[in-house]
Amino acid sequence: MTTAFPQHFLWGGAVAANQVEGAWQEDGKGVSTSDLQPHGIFGERVERQAGDCGIKDVAIDFYHRYPEDIKLFAEMGFTVLRTSIAWTRIFPQGDETQPNEAGLAFYDRLFDEMAKYNITPLVTLSHYEMPFGLVKNHGGWGNRKTIDFFENYARTVFTRYKDKVKHWLTFNEINMSLHAPFTGVGLPEESDKQAIYQAIHHQLVASARAVKACHEIVPDGKVGNMLLGAMLYPLTCRPADVMESLQQNHDWLFFGDVQVRGYYPGYMNRFFKQHGISITIEEQDKRDLQHTVDFISFSYYMTGCVTTDEELNQKSRGNILDMVPNPHLASSEWGWQIDPEGLRYLLNVLWERYQKPLFIVENGLGARDRVEADGSINDDYRIAYLNDHLVQVREAIEDGVDVWGYTCWGPIDLVSASKAEFSKRYGFIHVDRDDNGNGTLVRTRKKSFFWYQQVISSRGASL
Ligand code: BG6
Repeated sequence: MTTAFPQHFLWGGAVAANQVEGAWQEDGKGVSTSDLQPHGIFGERVERQAGDCGIKDVAIDFYHRYPEDIKLFAEMGFTVLRTSIAWTRIFPQGDETQPNEAGLAFYDRLFDEMAKYNITPLVTLSHYEMPFGLVKNHGGWGNRKTIDFFENYARTVFTRYKDKVKHWLTFNEINMSLHAPFTGVGLPEESDKQAIYQAIHHQLVASARAVKACHEIVPDGKVGNMLLGAMLYPLTCRPADVMESLQQNHDWLFFGDVQVRGYYPGYMNRFFKQHGISITIEEQDKRDLQHTVDFISFSYYMTGCVTTDEELNQKSRGNILDMVPNPHLASSEWGWQIDPEGLRYLLNVLWERYQKPLFIVENGLGARDRVEADGSINDDYRIAYLNDHLVQVREAIEDGVDVWGYTCWGPIDLVSASKAEFSKRYGFIHVDRDDNGNGTLVRTRKKSFFWYQQVISSRGASL
């Protein structure tokens, strides 16, 4: 047994509405961008017709089965659960002035269920899904008006849940828009940098306005941003590679810099000039941006490398990003490189850069599980992955980094975001469903369920 984590450290898991809820057209829900991507973020996009179906339409049916799932999370000892609100359950088209009561009532029931077990909700306002109505009728985040629609949505849910939810996140992996514009900002994939950065600017202003609204409506609430923590190492120690890694890390740190500091960093002026980009930033936008986040949250799955050497610059696709593989690291079955020490490194980098509390809101191993004849699932590979990462979180805390908590990704199997697969599983809890949507949806505890239960009850001393 080693040192325990601090008493106040929050332990739990993270899911997203579109990957677990299903019920895609129930109780007045509108069509979201995610509904048009039944094959995932990188799969083919379709116009939905009446009668056709996609894997996310039912997902794991969390919309109806959440009491059973929350009970299982409580059995593991969760003190926090990160989930998202589907914007289209509240404003089906996105531009209505009045919310959909049935959608609001669903999240009341969900948060009440969590409260029964003293599980703190950590709620993302927008996780890879926006109302498709905003894309079709208003041009998504390319249109400044979307800031107002989002602010109205944010104010509505802050007001409704102000006594139930104190921890909020604005946009999931906000830097993702650079790599998947439709998912991130509701723009066509082939959009140019000018259009994408203007839409990103609107989203950054919207995020800041949500922070302001939350502070007004939920005075004891805390709002964080959410970054895809895509740390890049120089592939070699040649100064050119070191400089290249600095510049490519700016691509994603830019979002954190604006959300934490409240203004555009100097290096972006040079970037915009070099790429012939001119962003319209109104005077009011500058004032809005000053409403900075209370804490920084991020996902962490992997690291990658960069180099300016053309021969060595052989990229392979990780989660969302193309990265040069690190020759010193092993990979998951999906080609994601496993780097527990990178998590300690990233925590230190973010802490030193911002001096704000950090929250790891996604981390985990997507793997194929085998159900044994007796029904057991012995996912030792998942236990090893999570154990190694949590050991590094503890190291970072000992380095002096202020870490609020850890919500591993997908504590219950869910639909993967990138390709909408079921065979890529993250959970402590197995869900009986396959890539074609066959299965009973029955939940079963895996070996890792009991491992995480012990980690939480010992506050990490069992790692
Ligand atoms: C993160 C997303 O990028 O990675 C999640 O916020 C996603 O929504 C997770 O599920 C894992 O990616 P995937 O493609 O394996 O589901």
